[in-house]
Amino acid sequence: MKLAFIGLGYVGLTTAVCMAYRGFDVVGVEVDDEKVEKISRGIAPVKEPKLEKLLKYALSRKKFTASTSYRDAVKADVFFITVGTPSKPDGGIDLSRVAEACKHIGETLATQEKVATVAVKSTVVPGTTRTLVKQKLEEASQKKVGMDLNLCVNPEFLREGAAVDDTFHPDRIVIGDDWGRGGKILTRLYKKFYGRKTPPTMITNTVNAEMIKYASNVFLAARISLINEVANICQRTPGADVEEVAKGVGMDRRIGPHFLRAGLGYGGSCFPKDVKALAAFAKGLGVEPFMLESVQKVNDNQPYKAIELAGRLVGNLHGRKAAVLGLSFKPNTDDIREAVSLKIINKLLEHGCTVVAYDPAATENVRRLLGNKINYAESAEECIKNADFCIVATEWDEFRRLKPELFKKHMKKPVVIDGRRVYDPAAISEKAVYAAIGLGPNKT
Ligand code: UDX
Repeated sequence: MKLAFIGLGYVGLTTAVCMAYRGFDVVGVEVDDEKVEKISRGIAPVKEPKLEKLLKYALSRKKFTASTSYRDAVKADVFFITVGTPSKPDGGIDLSRVAEACKHIGETLATQEKVATVAVKSTVVPGTTRTLVKQKLEEASQKKVGMDLNLCVNPEFLREGAAVDDTFHPDRIVIGDDWGRGGKILTRLYKKFYGRKTPPTMITNTVNAEMIKYASNVFLAARISLINEVANICQRTPGADVEEVAKGVGMDRRIGPHFLRAGLGYGGSCFPKDVKALAAFAKGLGVEPFMLESVQKVNDNQPYKAIELAGRLVGNLHGRKAAVLGLSFKPNTDDIREAVSLKIINKLLEHGCTVVAYDPAATENVRRLLGNKINYAESAEECIKNADFCIVATEWDEFRRLKPELFKKHMKKPVVIDGRRVYDPAAISEKAVYAAIGLGPNKT
């Protein structure tokens, strides 16, 4: 079976390369020619564990090619749409890249006799596939969905930093099909890909499949905001510690232990965008999205809890030197989209602090954004040197391994604000003045 992926972002590229690795003939079509050129040389444009190795393997076996031209995808049996759906100013999503991809796929298919399948992997609001996608494809191909063209929805649930592992071992496969044949073809494709280890596969209609993607992400985002709100309450409750509370809560099988890490809030390319998009979609339907708005509100405020704690420990922040450890939106990636570190840095600058930042992977991306507004360190130790206080904004393992005595040794005053709960309060409190998200005063 020949496959085409339209859009080589981290979802498109990872899925394409994993499929090619397992023996499918895959073409990736991408408008950005610099990206195509890099990928063709075996360089992954996103930092994703294992991806580059698989990419090089697939290229060397001639199982994968990247191109800027749809003509190279003309022989594909299945076209996966994996283009981005960025936020518009009102929170809704911009579907122009999806529409553009449909037009080009349609034009490509117009020249073909065979019945191809188009699968929408991009995150689109419920109803998009049976309206906009269907219409654009039919217009450009002069074919009819359900007759000489198959169409379905196939959302992805990959996490950045674990995208390859998530592709090989997903919890489930969701396929939405309103017409009957596309879903069967995708099911067969995944059986070939996963063999005996095929994950549970759910077939539903296109609207439900689109909604499952949003509902999954808003559920996860809501868990984070909820535990962060509990953390904020714990923080003002003598003796309380959200880490212990989350452990006890997570032991309830109805709740489970995942996504209960309190901190400075969620970032990244999905949760912030998807919560906003579903809220905008709800409003369009006349549904007041009370929960979704609260989830966002908690998350918008959460980074500033670090500044609050700094103020409590240091007093007036003006003229102080702040060290920020961690810039990426989560560990093991260089992605800084919606990273809480950026909000924290901007607030520190507003307060008149000088800021030194360090991140194992994302420094260059922040430098491009903030330039010389802040200083950049080459290591965590260099970052905390002579600082008045230090904020841990991302939970890189490297920061966990920092010995408490280093804060005492290097900082002007050893004041540590642990925004991601990386340190053991008892151990670090012996060497530094320590405050953490969700840790109440006088914890005994
Ligand atoms: C997420 C979804 O997990 C994935 O299924 C979807 O396809 C894309 O969006 P991703 O954004 O890569 O993936 O990262 P994820 O690991 O889910 O973390 C998102 C944010 O939530 C990060 O900022 C992380 O620090 C934060 N988070 C996560 C918490 O604050 N607490 C937690 O318990 C878990």
